[in-house]
Amino acid sequence: MKSRVLYAVVILLVLGLTACQCGKPTEEKGDASCAPNCTYADMTLCYPQLGAESDWRTANTASFKETAEELGFKLVFSDAQQKQENQISAIRACIQQKVDVIALPPVVEDGFEQVLTEAKNAGIPVIIVDRSVSADSSLYDSHIGSDMVLEGERAAEEFNKLMPDGGAVLELSGTTGSGAAVGRAKGFRNKLNDNIEILDSQTGNFTRAEAKPVMEAFLNKYEAGTDFQGIFIHNDDMGIGAIESLKAAGVQPGDLVIVSVDGTRGGFQAMVDGWFQADVECNPLLGPQVAEMALKLMNGQPVDREVLTNETVYYSDNAAELLPTRKY
Ligand code: AHR
Repeated sequence: MKSRVLYAVVILLVLGLTACQCGKPTEEKGDASCAPNCTYADMTLCYPQLGAESDWRTANTASFKETAEELGFKLVFSDAQQKQENQISAIRACIQQKVDVIALPPVVEDGFEQVLTEAKNAGIPVIIVDRSVSADSSLYDSHIGSDMVLEGERAAEEFNKLMPDGGAVLELSGTTGSGAAVGRAKGFRNKLNDNIEILDSQTGNFTRAEAKPVMEAFLNKYEAGTDFQGIFIHNDDMGIGAIESLKAAGVQPGDLVIVSVDGTRGGFQAMVDGWFQADVECNPLLGPQVAEMALKLMNGQPVDREVLTNETVYYSDNAAELLPTRKY
């Protein structure tokens, strides 16, 4: 009888222990064999870049590649060409490769829960970079990037100053569903004065090529200066595409109030040429910060859950002076 009871207890214990493994990370974070003394030479960082849609993105990619070279860690880089399914496949490949840390700049906010759970279960720390995700924050370790809502609010404040008597504006928005577009649109509406109407809003997917026909369609539908007096553009590349359509329609620099986001050299040139009155900064040079945090995570050190970049607004008055100093 005693031995039967003992046998049952052993079976229950074994079952219990097995059950405990379900859904648990197979490895704990910061358990790299070198931790807590890992150096950059020990680190493999996965960066499944979302695309190459803009000058901002090119500068962001360069920042990661240059940082890897300078600090001496291995960078597993890929380009998802603005397609979420490509990004998810690239993350899965990094999990299979057992990289030390994944830094993810998500193309859109939704739909990353499953793959982030896979990374968590594999014990790989994840830093969300640049745009945000809607997934539960327990599925990643930190977010490093810009405050996109604040950027939209800053843009609205410029229109409030430049159009004190009110009027109507168009919005050329970024990639639908992306944290950058969602945040900027929200911030813009938060702060725009009641006497300024948003006449229409269409996406140009953050690219010059897609923004140009969208602007052309706007100009076929609405008369510049009469139906609308301003345009809020979610990034400089779309601004440059839009300027081509404005020029073709005979609109002159200064006819409209135009505020863009990023602060790239192209945006500065558009201010020098009189097209943009202001450019809200969005800084792409995130490589060094992300690398430093990745090493901390590898060593099992605590990190801040949210690190927002300190940014400003640039103006046309001193754009010519600042243009030669721009790094991107
Ligand atoms: O997520 C940052 C945004 O993405 C930048 O404003 C834009 O240029 C890029 O494509």
